[in-house]
Amino acid sequence: MTGIAGDLAAREAALAQRGYRLRPARLRDVPQMLTLINGFASQGEMLPRSASELYEHIRDFLVIADPDDGVAATAALHVLWDDLAEIRSVAVSETLHGQGIGAYLVEKCVEDAERLGLPTVFVLTHKPGFYEKLQFERADVLSFPRKVWSECIRCPKFSNCDEIAMSRPVARAFTGRLPSDDDLLDPIRR
Ligand SMILES: CC(C)(COP(=O)(O)OP(=O)(O)OC[C@H]1O[C@@H](n2cnc3c(N)ncnc32)[C@H](O)[C@@H]1OP(=O)(O)O)[C@@H](O)C(=O)NCCC(=O)NCCS
Repeated sequence: MTGIAGDLAAREAALAQRGYRLRPARLRDVPQMLTLINGFASQGEMLPRSASELYEHIRDFLVIADPDDGVAATAALHVLWDDLAEIRSVAVSETLHGQGIGAYLVEKCVEDAERLGLPTVFVLTHKPGFYEKLQFERADVLSFPRKVWSECIRCPKFSNCDEIAMSRPVARAFTGRLPSDDDLLDPIRR
């Protein structure tokens, strides 16, 4: 296996040797996911999440389970429309930082986006350097109007958002019809 698929397989094997494995999140993971995510959020590193958000979106989440099946890391791919998805809540336990786990989770989310036929993924982050390493480029959040008008508008930080928007094309481009500006302005027709 070569390229990204080969890199991911090698990373997966290295983690497995140490008893860590990737799996979809389960409802019983939510308390540990909240502790991990909201621990970093309390230090201003990422957005906090509520239990209800995690339960509602549990199928978006991947976790890295530790040898005791506890949650060592999380990441989610949240689909917004047929041409756009957000990677969010990427969090790796502090003791495991710098071992490629964050990058591995982001690549698995991108792989999932490719499987679904999405052309682009984006993030809103305080860690642009991390995402730059993963080939994301800075973007204007207003170029994601579905995000802004469906979710950002409800965020308490809407008027003074300090997160940086970044996006990355997904390897295999979507070939279907992309929504036009008219579609965005006239959701009732859809
Ligand atoms: C940001 C975070 C997810 C990175 O996870 P990680 O497993 O430590 O990162 P990786 O080991 O996969 O790093 C991949 C690459 O990014 C680099 N990197 C990691 N964190 C970085 C940062 N904060 N700034 C710049 N580069 C960073 C690494 O050096 C590595 O580079 P290399 O390939 O040249 O060696 C992790 O530090 C974390 O959970 N932080 C708290 C929550 C958070 O800020 N999440 C970000 C989402 S908004």
